[in-house]
Amino acid sequence: MPALKIDGQAIAASIQAEVAAVVAERVQAGRRQPGLAAVLVGDNPASEVYVRNKRKACETAGLASWLHRLPATASQQDLLDLIGTLNGDPLVSGILVQLPLPKQMDEGAVIRAVSPLKDVDCFHPENVGLLAAGHPRFLPCTPLGVHQMLVRSGISIAGKQIVVIGRSNIVGKPLALILMQKPTKAFPEAGDATVTVVHRGTRDLPSICRQADILVAAVGVPRFVTAEMVKPGAAVIDVGINSVDGKLVGDVDEASVAAVAGWLSPVPKGVGPMTIAMLLHNTLRATMIS
Ligand code: GUN
Repeated sequence: MPALKIDGQAIAASIQAEVAAVVAERVQAGRRQPGLAAVLVGDNPASEVYVRNKRKACETAGLASWLHRLPATASQQDLLDLIGTLNGDPLVSGILVQLPLPKQMDEGAVIRAVSPLKDVDCFHPENVGLLAAGHPRFLPCTPLGVHQMLVRSGISIAGKQIVVIGRSNIVGKPLALILMQKPTKAFPEAGDATVTVVHRGTRDLPSICRQADILVAAVGVPRFVTAEMVKPGAAVIDVGINSVDGKLVGDVDEASVAAVAGWLSPVPKGVGPMTIAMLLHNTLRATMIS
C-alpha cells in the first residue's frame, strides 16, 4: 500500500484557524492585537516569497504585520538600529529577521540583538538554552511544525526510534531537542523518543536510517532519502526545499519512498505551510508572555 500523505497544508490551515479564533477573542476583549515585524535585507527571491507568505498568513489570521526592508548594501549597524526600534515598540510582539543575511553582516550578532521576548524564530541563544534546559519560552517554527504534523496525524512519538538527517541550528538540532526530552508541565510538547542525529558524513547512514520509525530529512540535498533508507511502514517527514530545474523538490525521493513508507509528507504542501502556522502561534504566544 502506498504511503499515506500527510497534508501539511490542511493541518496548517486548522492551526491558523485556532490562532485566528484566539486572536479575535482577545481583540474583542480589548487586549493587544498580536503583531509581527518582518525584516528583509536585500532582494533574495526565495526570501521575498517566504516573507510574503508569512505576512499573508498573519493578515488572514487577524494579526498585524509590518515589513521593514533594507537594501543589500545596508550596514550591520543599520540593521541593529532597526531591531533596536522594533524591540522597543509595544505594538510589535514578534520580530522575524529573514535569513540568510548579506555577507557583510554577522548573523549571530543580529540574532542576539533581537529581544528574547520577541524572538518568535527561537534563534536567540537565550531561547535555545531554555529549550535545551527543558523549559522553553518558544519552540522554533519548523521543528514545532514537524512535531505538530506527527501529533495531528496520530503518529505517536514517545518511545519511538527517530532519525533526524541534518544538524542545522534551524531544524536538526532543535528538533532533536524537542523530540528527545522528557515531557513536563513546563515542556508538554517534549517527545520522549530516542533520537539519533546524522549527517552526510555519517558512516553507514542508510542502515541507521532504516532503524527509524520516524525519519526526518533536513539535509538540504534534493531527493537524498531513497527507498532503501526507509523501514517499511515508517513515517517520513521531508523538510527539504530545493530548487531543481525551476521545480521545488524536497530531500526525499517521493517516487521510491512512497512505496515503502507508511506516511510521507510531501513537498510542496508539507512542512512549509506548517512553519508559517507555527510562526503565527509563536507571535500570539509572544503577546501573551510580554
Ligand atoms: N530562513 C530560512 N528559514 C528561516 C526561518 O525559519 N526563519 C528565518 N527568520 N529565516 C529563515
